[in-house]
Amino acid sequence: MPLSPERNIYISTPGNIVAVTKKRPLEKVDLNFNGESTQHSTHSLHTYVAAINPPLARKLVETYVPFGENVLDPFCGGGGILIESILAGRNCAGFDINPLAIILSKSKTTWLDKGAIQTEYSRIMTGVTELVGHIQPTISEHAKYWFKEDTIPELAALSYAINECEAQEVRDLFLAILSATVRSVMLTYRGEVRLRKLQGKDLENFYPDTFGVFKNRVNLALKQIPQLPKHCIARAEMADAKNLPVEDEEYHSIICSPPYADDTNGVGYFQFSRYMLEWLGMPRESINMHKKRFLGGNKNGKKVPPSMTLHTAVANVKTRSQKHYKDAVAFYADYYHTLLEMKRVVSNWIIIVIGNRVLSRTLFDNANITLELFNSIGGVKFVDYYSRTIRKKRIPNLGSDGGGISVEHILVFKKV
Ligand SMILES: C[S@@+](CC[C@H](N)C(=O)[O-])C[C@H]1O[C@@H](n2cnc3c(N)ncnc32)[C@H](O)[C@@H]1O
Repeated sequence: MPLSPERNIYISTPGNIVAVTKKRPLEKVDLNFNGESTQHSTHSLHTYVAAINPPLARKLVETYVPFGENVLDPFCGGGGILIESILAGRNCAGFDINPLAIILSKSKTTWLDKGAIQTEYSRIMTGVTELVGHIQPTISEHAKYWFKEDTIPELAALSYAINECEAQEVRDLFLAILSATVRSVMLTYRGEVRLRKLQGKDLENFYPDTFGVFKNRVNLALKQIPQLPKHCIARAEMADAKNLPVEDEEYHSIICSPPYADDTNGVGYFQFSRYMLEWLGMPRESINMHKKRFLGGNKNGKKVPPSMTLHTAVANVKTRSQKHYKDAVAFYADYYHTLLEMKRVVSNWIIIVIGNRVLSRTLFDNANITLELFNSIGGVKFVDYYSRTIRKKRIPNLGSDGGGISVEHILVFKKV
């Protein structure tokens, strides 16, 4: 495949993609942002898997979205782009099909008075110790496997007390704090994308202090939440990126990082979220229902969308695994629909931050696939390209063997 000199990217259909700007606004910026804070403001209130690099999000917002204009992230996850948008003084909206993503995005972008947080914390803690052992945990038997026996009644008491909170915005914040607490007391290795239960001595020596962790998280929120800007609005709602609840051209720009693959072969957002969601009171069946709406979740009646690079990749996968073939076709058919929807709702820029992935030993060049899909859709021009290196992750099937997942591609399209 030829290499485009201006864009430094392999292009499988030379000539289709026209570079319209010679000088890119961020060409002199080191987009790796080594050493820059990624934990400022509310980013550290609750981690999310495969979250955007906050300095990158900030740079993109400030460069491409004029002051006074609004930003949309149709795959908002833990709210990284929304946080940086409001800090930069831009109104924004974020959608996601993962209910945990919405609780996190809302609570990380909603200003609250310190007093309101303190009052609620006192109310929760006043009754919680008496509740321990008297509240039936609502979580499934599957979920219990991931917690120490002593932890379960403590989390059940906290969950009950928080769900009694009447003010929706305060309750959302405490649900986010409970979720972060659940993550900390779970019997899993930290810093890994897929859940893996603690083994041997690691398990024996793990004595989580549920109420201590909860208190620390509340203290963090007391520092962070009252510092959020009050004047900027971040709307965060559950919605499918294939069918966004917004008007045509309602947003100036889209900045997003879509999933690189379906939930089973990719990062596993639902595995990451499901036990937190169970503790927040969501039944297992509802969680599974939401998971089906993940890109590629429904495999029926899907066709390979128009991209030569994608056709070549899926044809190769078909010779190796029928299951992976179906998974890939379903994922990219849905992804194509999200690109159509992005074009509908935006008036200026569509900025996509994406990495490649490997399935059945086949490279899926997501950057070129995105370029070719937009090319076939028409009405959007590929304008700028950047790349950056990302930390190596433990992601099954995405592969480090030439998959190039240590590189993140930043594709900037302009609606024409
Ligand atoms: C790479 S993550 C986004 C991370 C986010 N930028 C952050 O900073 O946390 C991709 C997100 O897409 C969401 N997603 C998957 N399928 C979706 C769909 N059909 N509609 C909306 N969101 C979807 C996932 O739940 C996940 O949160």
